Amino acid sequence: MDIPRMGVPDELADRMSMAEQHEYLRSRLSRRRMLRSSAVTVGVLAVGGALGPGTAVAAAPATGTRTDAVDGSLVAPVGRHLAFGAEPDTQFRVSWQVPAAVKKPFLRFGRHPWDLGHKIEAEVRALHTPALTPTGTPVDQYYLHVELDRLQPDTTYYYGVGHQGFDPASQQAISTLQTFRTAPSRHGRHHRPFAPFTFTAFGDQGVSAHAAGNDHVILAQKPAFHLHAGDICYADPAGSGQDSDKSVYTATTWDSFLAQTETVAAKVPWMVSYGNHDMEAWYSHNGYGGENARFFLPDNGPDPRTAPGVYSFKYGNVGVISLDANDVSYEIPANLGITAGRQTAWLDRRLRELRGDDSIDFIVVFFHHCAFSTTHQHASEGGVREAWVPLFEKYRVDLVINGHNHVYERTDAILGNKVAKAVPSGGTVEPAKDGVVYVTAGAAGRSLYFFDAPDTYEGHENHQDSVNTYHFAKGGVKVPETVEWSRVRYTGYSFIKVDVTPAHRGRTTTMKVTALAEDGTQVDHYTVARRAGECREH
Ligand SMILES: [Fe+2]
Ligand SMILES: [Fe+2]
Repeated sequence: MDIPRMGVPDELADRMSMAEQHEYLRSRLSRRRMLRSSAVTVGVLAVGGALGPGTAVAAAPATGTRTDAVDGSLVAPVGRHLAFGAEPDTQFRVSWQVPAAVKKPFLRFGRHPWDLGHKIEAEVRALHTPALTPTGTPVDQYYLHVELDRLQPDTTYYYGVGHQGFDPASQQAISTLQTFRTAPSRHGRHHRPFAPFTFTAFGDQGVSAHAAGNDHVILAQKPAFHLHAGDICYADPAGSGQDSDKSVYTATTWDSFLAQTETVAAKVPWMVSYGNHDMEAWYSHNGYGGENARFFLPDNGPDPRTAPGVYSFKYGNVGVISLDANDVSYEIPANLGITAGRQTAWLDRRLRELRGDDSIDFIVVFFHHCAFSTTHQHASEGGVREAWVPLFEKYRVDLVINGHNHVYERTDAILGNKVAKAVPSGGTVEPAKDGVVYVTAGAAGRSLYFFDAPDTYEGHENHQDSVNTYHFAKGGVKVPETVEWSRVRYTGYSFIKVDVTPAHRGRTTTMKVTALAEDGTQVDHYTVARRAGECREH
């Protein structure tokens, strides 16, 4: 497929690029790695840069008079959010925020709440946003990160975060302690199956009572991890990825978002992929400078500098891949072609590796823009269909999760853009022979979209044999189409939970996919089945 490489707008050309900042960060990190000696790795990073007037940067000085002026006893950590490293059985990243610059931020952790002897200094990623409009005000945000490697698999850890003047191990702050649990060990899985587990997913959340409602129901599912398929917070409500979005940008919406999200993300790894509203052009050329300050994602993708939201990890018998669909979107082309095809080539390689790994039964791919949806507002993204759907079919991906359309919608099993097998609610799909099912779970909390066809969901079936819709083609052209694959449509705040039941080699292993509304009502469910422990390539 021919994707033109995006040019850099002239007004941004004189700014420090994210790549340059990332290069700087990486060089500091590798120096730090050489210095570390303990089993757990972490370091302190104070990053500065000489920047022109009116320039916002992802990493601004974290030291100076402001730091010296803050009394840490007056400032509490907020917005804790966890992430897996590339190896979830041994690697966690703990991130949080403080409302002002503090001295010596740190994390304590251990196997018991009374044993928090491991104390590790945090990496500071300070984000300075200048006044972006004539009436705006500058905002300084302080994100803190700790990288934990070589943890014990399948183990619950207690942790607390603090700084000079605030110690989570002190009696006054002991209630701020949280826990996380590492993934089961990957060793010896040829003989015994992993334990059953659950994960959850949605996209397009923002900050709202509905968003918080979904979070509360998610917490009750006790997920091992959560996938957020982009359009995370809507600090940029325009979502074009262009510099002009800054006229409506509110940096502090991220503070509200992380405070809201902490309910789940302080305990559950919160793995994000990036949507169109997550490209904040004023921080860096690729729009992800702000995200790099806030999130600490696995850097095992094809090009972490250009596309930091592309990565993968394994949990139990599931391989998870996060993609950056901004790279292939015809509808919103700000980052179209940003990896110059490297992401798609990597996806092909990664899918082949996962299918060649006999400890992995299911492959789950999540990203923002929908290959298959029928909403009035965005419908389907032809760029995803051209670049990635052939690979999803080649390797028979077991579950594709998208957002962008603020509804719940699920397809039948698809091959070649057509229904290969009908999968009604309650049905079972065997991807190896039936095809690929696509789930749009974009109703996490932002305003809802609508379908031109009537809703049809579990207990309220109103199936139509065909639906008139469209997809975006090259140049952002809307191409009308009549499709038969739209099986479930639900216009309401919702998310999906996925219950994974591994099995002994040769037996049937399943993923039960359930869509839950914000009040916990079930609106769809179906089962994905495979024979366990086989090395498969299609
Ligand atoms: Fe959205
Ligand atoms: Fe979107």
